Amino acid sequence: MRKPIVAGNWKMNGSGSFAAKMCEQINLFAENLDVEVVLSPPSVYLSQVQQAAKNYSAAAQNVHFAASGAFTGEISVAMLQDLGCQYVLVGHSERREIFAENQQWVADKVAAVVDATMVPILCIGETLAQRQQGEAHAVVKQQLLSAISSLQLSADQLVVAYEPIWAIGTGETATPEQAQEIHKYIRGVLAEQLSAEMANKTRILYGGSVNAETAAELFSQPDIDGGLVGGASLKIEDFKIICSAAANI
Ligand code: 13P
Repeated sequence: MRKPIVAGNWKMNGSGSFAAKMCEQINLFAENLDVEVVLSPPSVYLSQVQQAAKNYSAAAQNVHFAASGAFTGEISVAMLQDLGCQYVLVGHSERREIFAENQQWVADKVAAVVDATMVPILCIGETLAQRQQGEAHAVVKQQLLSAISSLQLSADQLVVAYEPIWAIGTGETATPEQAQEIHKYIRGVLAEQLSAEMANKTRILYGGSVNAETAAELFSQPDIDGGLVGGASLKIEDFKIICSAAANI
């Protein structure tokens, strides 16, 4: 049995008062919910969100792979550990595309996070052009393997998030069938790379315009174990509906 996860990626949104309200409401809401709820605020609010956490976990949106050094503006895994942070988003397409993160950096970050006994939420996904050219499988396989192939992982050390770039922030969600097809493929790649048992236990989240209307059908697919939610995670009532949808998996 894979426990579903719903992670809210606030991206560069929110405020201290928003964080306080969200933490309080999610602590109440998630108390008896059979879903792992994860909140991923901007780094300046991470300490606040982590300290308030009772019935959810906190995730950093990014990390640097070096232990320390002259990397202005960056945060190390040790600093995240210091906060008690459990998860780290790694390889989000906005980091790859806007901030030019390459696959080697993504792999180094995954390794650093795992080494620090935190769990990477590894984001992979194809562009619209790649999908149209029939390259979606090759792209996600390459992104996945380049990030994990040098590691010995167990299922609780990795969460994968499939986020087709054409569905992020566009209002265009992958259909449940499209998403399921890729999720099943990703699980197959994990089985080849690691083991069938490990693949069966690894949570694979869907991300890309998940909202209160689409969540239930997406999450009802056999290989979709919850969601990585952007815009809708900023609307508390919608986010709760999405979390509840995952509880019914
Ligand atoms: P949206 O839900 O806003 O499309 O964002 C998805 C995402 O990028 C989550 O990491």
